[in-house]
Amino acid sequence: MAKNYKIQTLNAISKLGLSRLPISYTVGSDIAEPEGILVRSQNMHEMAIPASVRAIGRAGAGTNNIPVKKMSERGIPVFNAPGANANAVKELVIAGMLMSARNLVPAFKFVEGLEGDDESLHKQVESGKKNFAGTELPNRTLGIIGLGAIGGLVADAAIKLGMNVLGYDPDITVEAAWRLSSQVKKAASVEEVVKNSDFITLHVPLLEVTRNMINAERIKLMRPSAVLLNFSREGIVDDAAVVAGIAAKQMHAYVCDFPSNALKGQAGVVALPHLGASTQEAEENCAIMVAEQVSDYLENGNILNS
Ligand code: MLT
Repeated sequence: MAKNYKIQTLNAISKLGLSRLPISYTVGSDIAEPEGILVRSQNMHEMAIPASVRAIGRAGAGTNNIPVKKMSERGIPVFNAPGANANAVKELVIAGMLMSARNLVPAFKFVEGLEGDDESLHKQVESGKKNFAGTELPNRTLGIIGLGAIGGLVADAAIKLGMNVLGYDPDITVEAAWRLSSQVKKAASVEEVVKNSDFITLHVPLLEVTRNMINAERIKLMRPSAVLLNFSREGIVDDAAVVAGIAAKQMHAYVCDFPSNALKGQAGVVALPHLGASTQEAEENCAIMVAEQVSDYLENGNILNS
């Protein structure tokens, strides 16, 4: 009979996802002597990891919330779920781009702020709506920095919407290059992307080389109408430089998935509460993918995606 594994789940791991696994598990947040830990966004850097733990699974693509190096030194592999939430993130990037192109947030705020009877509201709408005229996406250029699982899906969707796509990725693999549509024009540098795009979307992990990748110098190269989208990681964009860049009309708007005090209430900024992977489907996919990898490792010693 298959062994029943003791798995500790930290924060929002999809129980529904885990219940679909064909493996015997005891899961819970307060399990004693767990053999594996499954985690979503909880910061594990200051956590004491019990000696019983043999593997950790991150239900998402990034592993910034886990002390990977420290775990490797203890011989504990950290598994992630690359691609499992890519469609969810892609959909939110497209939503963010449309939301910005059609001025949906300021238009909504305008309507929310109206006062008076219905006749007066209609009059105010008639005179106010001219402030929210937008732009359409066909023939606009979307610059994509990072052409992995998410960047590739965003490229496909943008092409289907009639956009031109300019992509940059320093580490593109043969497999990823093969997957990408020939309609993606390959840029030679980040500078080439920021200079030539109407919308710029970031799909790189947060590493020392990507920290503040979008900074004051690169913002100066942008089109004054450029919209920057960051559904990747906080820290890749210098928030203060973006606020200053919008004020100086060097760029138009910033849509991101990470609130910060520097961004709160600033003109041209829409910050969301890290919703990129927050769909039922993505949560289930991630939970299943990491649980399968952790159990495969515990049971058979196999290592995938660590
Ligand atoms: C990811 O790294 O894929 C996301 O941060 C996942 C999440 O929102 O939990």
